[in-house]
Amino acid sequence: MKGVATAAPLLEVLAGRRPARRPVWFMRQAGRFLPEYRALRAKQTFAELLANAELATEVTLMPMQRFDIDAAILFTDLLVPLEAMGVPLAYTPGPELGWRVRCGSDLARLEDIDVRVKLPVPLETARRVRALLPPDKALIGFVGAPFTLAAYLVEGRGSKDWSELRRLAWQDPALFDDMLARLARSALAFGAALFEAGCDAIQIFDSWAGVAAPAMFQQQVLPHVRRLIAGFQAEHIPVIYFVNGAATHLDCMIASGADCLGVDFKIAAADVHARLPQGLPCQGNLEPQVLFASEATIARETRSIIEAFADRPHVFNLGHGLHPETPVAGVEQVIATIRNEQEAA
Ligand code: CP3
Repeated sequence: MKGVATAAPLLEVLAGRRPARRPVWFMRQAGRFLPEYRALRAKQTFAELLANAELATEVTLMPMQRFDIDAAILFTDLLVPLEAMGVPLAYTPGPELGWRVRCGSDLARLEDIDVRVKLPVPLETARRVRALLPPDKALIGFVGAPFTLAAYLVEGRGSKDWSELRRLAWQDPALFDDMLARLARSALAFGAALFEAGCDAIQIFDSWAGVAAPAMFQQQVLPHVRRLIAGFQAEHIPVIYFVNGAATHLDCMIASGADCLGVDFKIAAADVHARLPQGLPCQGNLEPQVLFASEATIARETRSIIEAFADRPHVFNLGHGLHPETPVAGVEQVIATIRNEQEAA
């Protein structure tokens, strides 16, 4: 019905309901696959964009202007809070930290963040974007999961297998535990401030959880994730917990208590559905490289995910971020398929 204010379908799903319109958004939708982002980046460095609320607002809204999608994700970077904790950060173009944590005295150098003083730009961006978005569109804020932030803190940059992080967990479990506790505390402070500034939900990115052995994850990581999520929920903040490595950690994800579980593409959607408790909301999990395929293949793969999650509150997304070379037409084809299915239902 026209003129009736509707709650954002994404928030309906996070509350465990199944709205008539299936919400969809794309991880890394505010980034390099968009020609308008690349045009802006030709004039500004990534660091300059991160430091400018006006430009960050513009980038956050770019995919909303182009696509029929249900959520914006705040334009900032996962590692910005580490910089606010006193670790110099540069993008070359991958992230590089100025120093790394290897012992207790390194960890002692890490400062607790005063979010309002140290992270004014993402907060201002959240306020601006929320004021510009209609009520049926959700604004997602995000934080790094303790393990994924620790991965960068220990290695200082990206890694294939994060062996030094894994080694530290065995060599010095007390230091590892202390580090995760401090990162979870900062993530809670940052996420809660983002929510207060206007974000409607927080996604926790556990992008590198997949390298952790199951028992290690359950014993040394999950308690920190649970505390972080419980902290958000105590403030009535809806939480999506995205794990890249859901096939290994799905039981831990369920135990995390998150309102919605984000799953990567290396587990079949039907398996996820079979293993999750009835009614637990789920987000995912189309393989991002499918978007380079033919229209017919994109439509078929999109439908197969919708069918697998037919009986569950579901947010359509990819199983990881959009690749920077993804054709815009591939994204449009996914969205068109979702909307067609809806009309057919
Ligand atoms: O999703 C969105 O569109 C919102 C913005 C967003 C960015 N980074 C912007 C960005 C989000 C949600 C992130 C999360 C992020 N950042 C993660 C977790 C998500 C995941 O992929 O699992 C991680 C691990 C990072 C750290 C990081 N920042 C990496 C590994 C890189 C890529 C470096 C490279 O060369 O590919 C970045 C840079 C970055 N973050 C870009 C953007 C748009 C590209 C910067 C540019 O314009 O050059």
